[in-house]
Amino acid sequence: MAPQSTNIEDADALVAAFNPMAPDQMENPYAMYSRLRRERPVFYSPMFDLWVVTRYADIAEVERDTERFSSVGALDAKAEPHPAVREILKQGYSQFQSLVQSDPPNHTRMRNVFGRALSPQRVAAMESAIRATTNGLIDGFIQDGQVDLVQQFAFALPAFVICDLIGVPRSDMQQLKGWSDDKTLLMSATAPIEQQVESAHGFIAMERYFKEKIHERSRRPREDLLSLLVPMSMGGTAPMSEQEAVCNAMDIFSAGHETTTGLLGNGIWLLLKHPEQLAAVKADLSLLPNAIEEILRKEPPVRGFFRQVMTDTTLGGVSLPKGARTFILYESGNHDETQFSEPERFDIHRADARKHLAFGKGIHFCVGAPLAKLEGRIAFEQILQRLPNLRLRTDEPTVRRPYLMLRGFEHLPLAWDVPA
Ligand code: HEM
Repeated sequence: MAPQSTNIEDADALVAAFNPMAPDQMENPYAMYSRLRRERPVFYSPMFDLWVVTRYADIAEVERDTERFSSVGALDAKAEPHPAVREILKQGYSQFQSLVQSDPPNHTRMRNVFGRALSPQRVAAMESAIRATTNGLIDGFIQDGQVDLVQQFAFALPAFVICDLIGVPRSDMQQLKGWSDDKTLLMSATAPIEQQVESAHGFIAMERYFKEKIHERSRRPREDLLSLLVPMSMGGTAPMSEQEAVCNAMDIFSAGHETTTGLLGNGIWLLLKHPEQLAAVKADLSLLPNAIEEILRKEPPVRGFFRQVMTDTTLGGVSLPKGARTFILYESGNHDETQFSEPERFDIHRADARKHLAFGKGIHFCVGAPLAKLEGRIAFEQILQRLPNLRLRTDEPTVRRPYLMLRGFEHLPLAWDVPA
């Protein structure tokens, strides 16, 4: 579908039309971004009350300068929730303090804990369990000849992996997913207020769940991430407060699955749309690691993060007032023609695909990137090897997820020839 926004002649009207949740922009925002990078690289969106940053170099500058651009509230589209939402959130901690939403020195202090929890050795040790989970999920539907890949696979795989890593039972996964969706909806702050109020209750329930778990681990530590998060003040090893431990547990559950769900869905969709590249990967699985980088560049699962402007400043020649909120749009930076040649071309052989912004840049670079890539490699390998003549179903629509921060599918119906 050609985005309607590409027909808009006036740059002011283009800025006013910016809405990553509009159906045509969810489908293909890239022509619009290309014009914005040329004509309004940093612009104020009245619809979202955000300063949107579209060029690769400007996004990198924001990520680098943590004094001018604070990560406090990096997941929140709005600085303050609606009063009705705030009233419910009062039942929990007064502030959400986690790794991704902090600046140095707090960030440095907490990052060390995650470095241990997601060290290359720990991630490598997860390979056989991830492979078994992947195959178990595929076994569950292979004889059906069709599946909604997102609902029956791409969501479940990373969610099970993150449950195992954190140390919560897989039987809690659906409950946690519901709360995590509430958290995402709340942070985007675009849903009707009644829905945000409902989600605020889910958010508080998730907070209570993890608070209880942290206390339980302080009494009986195990070999899991929750135990690594137990604060020193509670007899654990983590240099953080109880509040930080709970907020980090909540964030890591959401960060660890929703994003990887996006990678799996976007990747299969892209490969099916480019049959010659799909065939090349199937014939030589060693092409997968670079293909995954290119998938992350072309269709990044996280559209962007937010930053708070700490002082009157300029960015890309545009004045930004202290207190403004910015939306650094990785999905535009990844298509910046000053960085990538023919950025709209999907090319699994692209030599510089790895410099994409899908995992961020600088001190907040995704600490879960090696795990996400491992899950992607195993999932793509097994799907491509086990489901012959894989194709998109034409009788069922693909549906995208309508979130401001996330880019991915809610439904991705596929079919294949059932193996004899
Ligand atoms: C394809 C999958 C993933 C994508 C696209 C993704 C994307 C990102 C991005 C863009 C950031 C930087 C945020 C910023 O600059 O403010 C980030 C940070 C982070 N990610 Fe991921 N992520 C993925 C998977 C994971 C996984 C599997 C985990 C955990 C197991 C994880 C945990 C985190 C954490 C804890 C941070 C905060 C790091 C910090 O602030 O120092 N992510 N991720």
